[in-house]
Amino acid sequence: MILVTGASGTLGSMLVPLLTARGEQVRALSRHRRDGSVGSCVWVAGDLDSGAGLDEAVDGADVIVHAASNTRRQGKGDTGAAWRLIEAAKRGGRHPHLLYISIVGVDRHPMKYYRTKYEVEQAVEGSGLPFTILRTTQWFQLLDAFLGVAAKSPLMPAPGLPFQPLDAAEAAARLAELAVGAPAGRAEDMGGPEVLTVRDLARSWLAATGKHRVLVPLPLPGKVGRAFRDGRHNAPEHKVGKATWAEYLAGEYGR
Ligand SMILES: NC(=O)c1ccc[n+]([C@@H]2O[C@H](COP(=O)([O-])OP(=O)(O)OC[C@H]3O[C@@H](n4cnc5c(N)ncnc54)[C@H](OP(=O)(O)O)[C@@H]3O)[C@@H](O)[C@H]2O)c1
Repeated sequence: MILVTGASGTLGSMLVPLLTARGEQVRALSRHRRDGSVGSCVWVAGDLDSGAGLDEAVDGADVIVHAASNTRRQGKGDTGAAWRLIEAAKRGGRHPHLLYISIVGVDRHPMKYYRTKYEVEQAVEGSGLPFTILRTTQWFQLLDAFLGVAAKSPLMPAPGLPFQPLDAAEAAARLAELAVGAPAGRAEDMGGPEVLTVRDLARSWLAATGKHRVLVPLPLPGKVGRAFRDGRHNAPEHKVGKATWAEYLAGEYGR
């Protein structure tokens, strides 16, 4: 049985059907009560912050895919949450394969969320459980959402920072493969097929959504800005994603 934390999120909601389609029994964790079972997926309620429901959630799990994160608050509480999950998994006595989804460059990037992801990676590595960590570059779905927020202003901030976007669906497919395979330690990084600046991304996003905005090359100051300018969050040597940003936009917005 495979426990998926973050099963209701962008990634988790793509991963769960891929696992059930492979015939896997899936237990999907959410803080909120959801309808019992869908095919071979059963929803369970649990909270990684309080620890409520975790012992029941991990009971009998052979694999745990940890995709839950406090993404809205820069990963606040994620390290403690990871340890609570690890301790529950160890109490269960089954020593499941722990699979964690991380981000390229978290060990060399000063952004708070990335530093927290690195702490969680270290918790996973130090857990004593067999583990796999997959790092990917930023997903189309995240950049799409960011651009939607930026476009709320008629002067749309669009710095010349390089990004290497990847379809979350491809990350989910890779995670599904890893979840049914043997623990791999640090898996090979996974990046999108092309490196584009935020300005490039914003231009094609505006064309696809039919919006008209003035793009402003607002610089990102400080250490975080430098890290993004240096592309520490990219993996140009791992352009393994197939779908392009243009294809994603065509699928989402029909132009
Ligand atoms: N977006 C990217 O570009 C990208 C790239 C590489 C890696 N990642 C990583 O992939 C992971 C998934 O990202 P995502 O965009 O799919 O996240 P998301 O859509 O924001 O979903 C977050 C999930 O975390 C769960 N969650 C949050 N706090 C929880 C808690 N205290 N207890 C239990 N569940 C909790 C939520 O479940 P409920 O609300 O149902 O409880 C939700 O399903 C994250 O670790 C992220 O860092 C993202």
